[in-house]
Amino acid sequence: MKLIYKSAKRHGLSGPRFILGDTDWHQRAQDTVVALRKNKTSLANDLAEDITVLLARTHRVETFRECHERIIGRLERLCNKAQALLLPKIVVGVTGANGGIGKETLLHAAQSVFVKKVIGLVRISGRGPAAGNVMDLTDRWQLDRLNICKAAIEIRTYEDLEDTPAVHEPVDVFIHTVGQGRKPVPLNPDTLKPIAPPPTRQELLAHNQSVLKDVVDYTHRACPGALHIFVTNPIGHRLMQVVLEKGVPPEKILGFGGELDSARFRHFIRQALEAEGHCVLDVRAQVIGEHNDNMIPLQSSDVTFDSGVTLPLERCLAEGILSAQSVQKIIKRTIGRGMEIVDSQGTSAVRAPARGLVVMLEKLLRGEVVNGLSYRPFRHGKLSFVGGPVRLKNGLALVPEPFDKHSSLTPSEKACWLKSMQASCINACHSHS
Ligand code: LAC
Repeated sequence: MKLIYKSAKRHGLSGPRFILGDTDWHQRAQDTVVALRKNKTSLANDLAEDITVLLARTHRVETFRECHERIIGRLERLCNKAQALLLPKIVVGVTGANGGIGKETLLHAAQSVFVKKVIGLVRISGRGPAAGNVMDLTDRWQLDRLNICKAAIEIRTYEDLEDTPAVHEPVDVFIHTVGQGRKPVPLNPDTLKPIAPPPTRQELLAHNQSVLKDVVDYTHRACPGALHIFVTNPIGHRLMQVVLEKGVPPEKILGFGGELDSARFRHFIRQALEAEGHCVLDVRAQVIGEHNDNMIPLQSSDVTFDSGVTLPLERCLAEGILSAQSVQKIIKRTIGRGMEIVDSQGTSAVRAPARGLVVMLEKLLRGEVVNGLSYRPFRHGKLSFVGGPVRLKNGLALVPEPFDKHSSLTPSEKACWLKSMQASCINACHSHS
């Protein structure tokens, strides 16, 4: 079996270099040192020294696993600390902060080193889960030895946003979790069959469009420069139509989906390989396109084995490391994972989406590429709202990245991608500024 020693080859270096998660840590650490040196404060200098020492150690470790366990995690923490020092902190607004994903997102955002204040917007009731969560979090902070550097967190309630303005300060990013989630249909106790057909996407769409319309109208007028991130289902171009209609520019609209679907894909790839007795160090898998049954889990996704060897999924298949049947199963479960969770717990997933939203936000603020739904130029000057690599440039404006920079598509993936682009296409009266 011919294996690709991709990491070393890619850098043309003899020592080990590690490409883990979605980031090349070696490069990120080096860039961070350069930025810290420019800062010229003693704290920045100390951090630069610590990172340099750790980087030097990557040449001395024996195995990939050792590097992974002893160095990468520490490098990540130091780089995050450095970037928290170098980058301005932002104000985040979370709408629907009393819902499952909303209240969890509020807590994750409040604990981010990039956030100075989190405002949870809740319709009507000032008590309930969101307020309780804030009380619990505030108490928890008192348990930390140094309870400085933590974001301020506030819940603002409103009945009607026009009558009760709930945002009085510039908010940089709104994370919209408002709207109804998916629920399974109750079973008839006698027949054990669903009492009605499951709600169509269209039904969820109409309800969530009307909820989103008011919230976006208000938040966009209150903070016209803000970036808007949406997790409300069915996330796609039809739901986003109301957002565009309210005047939010396309480059300020980001849909959450790809990061979550990719995490699920990664999980199933790892699980299948480990079940076959393989030792997996890392999986770099991406799912692009739509956040529904048309999503496209990519065959070019990489697996790094304990030995340091990295193989794309298609090679794992070609070399017989995974069977075609296993790959089909992985893809099917990735696509159906959201509904599998709904069926099992009676509500949509909460923890992975909430954490994923904040991880995505942090990556964007660090200038990294994320996997999200954004408006991409399509044929004849049209725009399509589909998932793929995208990053922030010029402040809080989104710029989609070309694919060939990140992964290659097989002919069938390319065909599915074009189909999604076609289906999610709008006549661009809105254009990237
Ligand atoms: C899911 C929801 C967040 O996929 O769309 O779980």
